[in-house]
Amino acid sequence: MEKKFHITTFGCQMNEHDSETIAGMLIERGYEQAGDRKDANIVIFNTCSVRENADKRFFGTLGQLKKKKMEEHENFTVCVCGCMMQQQHIIDTLKAKYPWVDIIFGTHNIHELPLLLDNLYNEKQKQLSVLQEGGEIVEGLPAKRLFKHKAFVNIMYGCNNFCTYCIVPYTRGRERSRKPEDILREIKELAADGVKEVMLLGQNVNSYKGISETGLGTCDFADLIHLIDEVEGIERIRFMTSHPKDLSDKLINTFKECKKLCHYFHLPVQAGSDIVLEQMNRKYTKEAYLKLIKKLREVDSDMAISTDIIVGFPGESEEDFEETLSLCREVRYDSAFTFLYSVREGTPAAKYDNQIPEDVKHERFNRLVDVINGISAEKNAEYVGKTEKVLVDGPSKTNSKTYGGRTETFKLVNFRGTPEMIGKVVKVRITASNTFSLQGEVISE
Ligand code: SAH
Ligand code: SF4
Ligand code: F3S
Repeated sequence: MEKKFHITTFGCQMNEHDSETIAGMLIERGYEQAGDRKDANIVIFNTCSVRENADKRFFGTLGQLKKKKMEEHENFTVCVCGCMMQQQHIIDTLKAKYPWVDIIFGTHNIHELPLLLDNLYNEKQKQLSVLQEGGEIVEGLPAKRLFKHKAFVNIMYGCNNFCTYCIVPYTRGRERSRKPEDILREIKELAADGVKEVMLLGQNVNSYKGISETGLGTCDFADLIHLIDEVEGIERIRFMTSHPKDLSDKLINTFKECKKLCHYFHLPVQAGSDIVLEQMNRKYTKEAYLKLIKKLREVDSDMAISTDIIVGFPGESEEDFEETLSLCREVRYDSAFTFLYSVREGTPAAKYDNQIPEDVKHERFNRLVDVINGISAEKNAEYVGKTEKVLVDGPSKTNSKTYGGRTETFKLVNFRGTPEMIGKVVKVRITASNTFSLQGEVISE
């Protein structure tokens, strides 16, 4: 029988890239990728546990498949993986309420999926394989990229920071850095395959520490960027995510020194109040954070800055929340991802007894979004009349003549384009702006 798979991905870029790897491995073994879940006979859910609504969406979507599984039995395979599978209570729920799921695997062994599928078909037995910690990093796995010209590159795995609200250190294990030579080899291969932009991925990329076995020495993140900056064919380097406590002057200076590094920095602040930051175990103060922003802007005056903010962390008072608002007004973020605090079983903050009522959280959230969006719109309006270099991604989903791409500052620009422009850097004059995007006209290729 023809084997057609479909992957549904929840969560961050780390998960998106894991899904690309899963797709790459399956295609290599002759499986076909279906464009739509309903056309697939192997469905894979790559889950996220960072907030409760991600959990809920997963169980909701999974539940919809029960009928099909009951009708098709072994002709229809359901696999679940990702961060939720690293939590025992989720495995227990799956076993109790979704016993028809065929394969469960975790974040540390995605490379095993082909083997688990073989075992399932050969042994006619469900497969459960979840490791508590990641072992040696598995190199050389293929990946089916979403874009020909852009690629995600993992430089490290895991997180050691244990912010008190966050589940990631439990689902992704301790920090492990790839060797610089392995990263460079991958990026050179990507460049040879037409990739112009790499997005370096890690939960905390600026604590990267790669130990070379081929004479590159011990590399920190700034050293790694310098090495990647030399790779022929690569035109743009981005990275995500950084922790303010590990943001060194050396890294800040790479924005002056490395010509391919894009003028964009995502620096999650989470909260503006020192009391809340302390309770979150973030290890910096509002003042220290603002100093970093100042330094970044001194080194690169064009830099766009974005952040993540959590509203309604346990014990957050109105005054604490106003510190967040004042910080946003002071930094003037280009954009921000804002989240309602969500209790995550197994994290320290879940046990704090001063949880904030839902209505208060929502009211603060709305006020924050108003401030953030107002500033985003003003920042975008400053682009009107300027000419920007845009790496063209492709046509928009709704209008085949409208193309989209990103400026070096990661602004989404829409313009009239042609298929030949995809994957190229074009010059676009910005003619109008919105809160979340810019509009423009191509002036040269
Ligand atoms: N390693 C990255 C990303 C972590 S998850 C970093 O440290 O920046 C992405 C974002 O989700 C976090 O920055 C945080 O703002 C948010 N987040 C994490 N746990 C959360 C929780 N329990 N409730 C609400 N938001 C949360
Ligand atoms: Fe979570 Fe904090 Fe680690 Fe980011 S740095 S993944 S927020 S624990
Ligand atoms: Fe979610 Fe796991 Fe990423 S919890 S945010 S998919 S690391």
